[in-house]
Amino acid sequence: MPTSPKPQPVALCRLDDLADPGSRGVVHAGESLLVVRQGANAQVFVNRCPHRGIPLEWVPDQFLDSSGRLIQCATHGALFLPDTGECVSGPCAGQHLIRRDSHVKDGLLWLD
Ligand code: FES
Repeated sequence: MPTSPKPQPVALCRLDDLADPGSRGVVHAGESLLVVRQGANAQVFVNRCPHRGIPLEWVPDQFLDSSGRLIQCATHGALFLPDTGECVSGPCAGQHLIRRDSHVKDGLLWLD
């Protein structure tokens, strides 16, 4: 049985297009994603709170709390670590955002 070709990485955005710290909403293949930058690192998560399954933001591209250090669900205030997506405060504490594999190369954030 033939194997399907391995999907190629897709460039989502330039790292420099994001504030530091910063965030942005991206739609890829019909899926709503959020990108979070912290310094030279960036992560990609599915834009869906594990608590109610709804998008995290009220304002486009605004996924971080006022400190810029945590991802925040705008509906009920749950807070998530930007590196792992673990919820550390709120109604879904201990649950995780779904992270998509990604990497930074040549100044671009690639979805693997
Ligand atoms: S929907 Fe996200 S914390 Fe309630």
